[in-house]
Amino acid sequence: MSDPRIIGYLSRAVAHELSAVQHYLSQARLTAFWGMEAFSRELRQEADEELVHADRFITRLLQYGVSPKGGSLSPARLGRSQSELLLQNIELERDAVRLYEEAADYCRRRGALADAELFEAVRDEELDHLRGMEQQLYDAADGGRHG
Ligand SMILES: [Fe+2]
Ligand SMILES: [Fe+2]
Repeated sequence: MSDPRIIGYLSRAVAHELSAVQHYLSQARLTAFWGMEAFSRELRQEADEELVHADRFITRLLQYGVSPKGGSLSPARLGRSQSELLLQNIELERDAVRLYEEAADYCRRRGALADAELFEAVRDEELDHLRGMEQQLYDAADGGRHG
């Protein structure tokens, strides 16, 4: 018997990840319009990684016999400069880390170890995304000024 709160967390995770795919694809295309080829490629890579995350959570839902039924996606968060985009991305990645921390804690308390490990593994990858964005923001702003 599956725990409805765990199914709820997995469903929210799928919604977050598919929204993140839309978000990063949009930023990748926008920055390509701006002629920022390298940054655009990095954002496209982020979209691909979020798609892998969505696949992992969908896989888990299907293993529980639940078909994913996500509703509307969150809007892509855009901006007018590289720094503005990076600030949006830092917020998006922090949202993911918060959600997966909460989900992993709940799963651990319920003894659902496979689910806890899935949420923790994806959380660690979101932390890598977050650190990468913070480093890029530093390089684009402060780092650039001192270099
Ligand atoms: Fe993700
Ligand atoms: Fe991410």
